[in-house]
Amino acid sequence: MKRESSKDPKPFLKWVGGKTQLLSELEARLPADFIETVRVYAEPFVGGGALLFRILSRPNRLERVIVNDCNIDLANAWRVVQAEPDALIAALSRFQAEYTGLPDEAGRKNFYLGVRSAFNAGHPSGNSPDVGRAALLLFLNRTCFNGLYRVNNKGLFNVPFGKYAHPGICDELTIRSASAVLSGVKINCGDFTDAVVDAGPGWFIYFDPPYRPVSDTSAFCDYTRGGFGDDEQRRLAECCRRLDAAGAGWMLSNSDAPDGFFDELYRGFRIDRVRAARAINAKGDGRGKVSEIIVRNIREAH
Ligand SMILES: C[S@@+](CC[C@H](N)C(=O)[O-])C[C@H]1O[C@@H](n2cnc3c(N)ncnc32)[C@H](O)[C@@H]1O
Repeated sequence: MKRESSKDPKPFLKWVGGKTQLLSELEARLPADFIETVRVYAEPFVGGGALLFRILSRPNRLERVIVNDCNIDLANAWRVVQAEPDALIAALSRFQAEYTGLPDEAGRKNFYLGVRSAFNAGHPSGNSPDVGRAALLLFLNRTCFNGLYRVNNKGLFNVPFGKYAHPGICDELTIRSASAVLSGVKINCGDFTDAVVDAGPGWFIYFDPPYRPVSDTSAFCDYTRGGFGDDEQRRLAECCRRLDAAGAGWMLSNSDAPDGFFDELYRGFRIDRVRAARAINAKGDGRGKVSEIIVRNIREAH
């Protein structure tokens, strides 16, 4: 696939667990012969897609690219960026003009809460790209507290107002460059296993699941109702073992659980420990460098 744009593509929304901080560590651990051997690349937990955009902006000989996320609004936003960049930019420009024209913080907060209510009153209309809904999500992403995405147990987006006076609501260049490299990419909305059912030799898969909390207070699994508990982590490890047996290559990141949970789960695979800057603690304490693991189904470093 030919993939070019005037600006290096990067995530078009901020997503909790975004991998921008860890990109160099992840890139350094891609197979050394990625260009020669990888024909299918998949990200079953795509989120903001930081590594995906990095890979698509580098030389490659990929014939298929598959992204997946179980969050229906996130998958819709990816489809809209891919297929309807002009309409999305037009909708976001209207938001930008209206929002920045508001006289004070009270007005901006009211506007934000109105958009949040509209978002919570609807849902994406099936599999075809829903531009209006994607614009609501991107607006909320730029104006809510810290760019968080969090839903309550009823599935309603409940992040408070972010108090930014000049948020960049319509980032036209980023949307256009992302759209250009997403041409031909398959965008799935489902469980991670759906994205890799036919994986085998020539595949490389990057798994970035919701992290296992390292303490009771650091949990952040609220991307969707339901969460991602230890049973889900085990189901993912089983999937990785199946893929290894099928001849597919993969890499996975997660938190460095102090109880050795992942050392046990991924015994026999290569586990590297890296330090990453993280800021998902809403109170601001607990920020700083935390240890994360990168697991790969290779037996030795290259
Ligand atoms: C840590 S985030 C991915 C971050 C991403 N790599 C980035 O750079 O922005 C994890 C994602 O997994 C998704 N997710 C949670 N459970 C899932 C499941 N069972 N199948 C597929 N996606 C799931 C969440 O909606 C969330 O977007």
